[in-house]
Amino acid sequence: MSSLQEKVRSLRQELDNVTSLGGKSLEAFRLKFISKKGAISELFEEFKQASVEEKKTLGKILNELKQAAEERFKQLSDEQEASAKSSGVEIDLSLPPIPNKTGSLHPLNLTRYKIIEVFERLGFNVVDGPEIEDDWHNFTALNFPENHPAREMQDTFFIEKPALPDGQERGNHDILLRTHTSNVQIRLMKQQKPPLRAIMPGRVYRNEAISARAHCFFHQVEGLYVDKNVGFSDLKQTLFHFAKEMFGKDTKIRLRPSFFPFTEPSAEIDVSCFICGSKGCNVCKYSGWVEIAGSGMVHPNVLRNCGIDPEEYTGFAFGMGIERITMLRYGINDLRMFSENDIRFLKQFKAVV
Ligand code: PHE
Repeated sequence: MSSLQEKVRSLRQELDNVTSLGGKSLEAFRLKFISKKGAISELFEEFKQASVEEKKTLGKILNELKQAAEERFKQLSDEQEASAKSSGVEIDLSLPPIPNKTGSLHPLNLTRYKIIEVFERLGFNVVDGPEIEDDWHNFTALNFPENHPAREMQDTFFIEKPALPDGQERGNHDILLRTHTSNVQIRLMKQQKPPLRAIMPGRVYRNEAISARAHCFFHQVEGLYVDKNVGFSDLKQTLFHFAKEMFGKDTKIRLRPSFFPFTEPSAEIDVSCFICGSKGCNVCKYSGWVEIAGSGMVHPNVLRNCGIDPEEYTGFAFGMGIERITMLRYGINDLRMFSENDIRFLKQFKAVV
């Protein structure tokens, strides 16, 4: 027997003895039998020098050896994988789960839902309306005469009027982004007869320079109550109830005379500072009070503009800014944060309901 033949046999013997890894590494097996620098490759190198006669007999058994080594390698690596799985080395089921990244409600929505909840319990419906509005519903019907300086308090963005099909007349109203949700009050009063009791949450726009305290868009909730014999005391009592539900049962309210073209008389509503309990802090600017809403009795002209007889019906209305109340509730000092979509800001409200 040639020495090459001898080597092939003994290597085969050695291979056949390896039935399991037995504590040795799979990599050691691969280096020895499979790799390009391993024992079998070496034998193939020697085989090249063998005589023609020898090649005939040896070629077959050398190839069988190579094949057997590859099969054994596959078997050993399968076994190793199976045992790793069953012993849980790769997947550790005892590890705590990676938490799902669930989102959370936006702070403005938290406030909006809370306001809606309070008024719904008082029997107010929630009504929606268009953000792109005509001049009449946003201003004129609300008793802002055309070219009246009161419009300057609510400058907005005007939209070029698209042509209507078939030469239909659009009328000469300007199209604009609404400056308050009072347009929905007008639409509601035109559509339905009193008694009416509704709130109108929504986004509004104003042509303002963007700063920590002002933005070109923000959100409001307005309210309207029209019926026979609705008086100023109803307005006061409704908003007093709201303030206690929203900010705590010890909250007090204060009304200050004000002016809005669409209400007469008009009043600003302040609540006792719920941050410091009216002791004085930088939120209430050491006055003990914070302003939260505008309000008043619906002006007879507004009722008339909507086809409601002011001799028969009266009503009150109010409007509050959702951003402002949210800033007060959570001590937020920059309005711009609400629309920047910064996760670090938003996720702080996860636990708040
Ligand atoms: N529409 C007013 C505003 O946006 C708020 C308001 C509503 C005041 C209803 C009084 C009554 O400033």
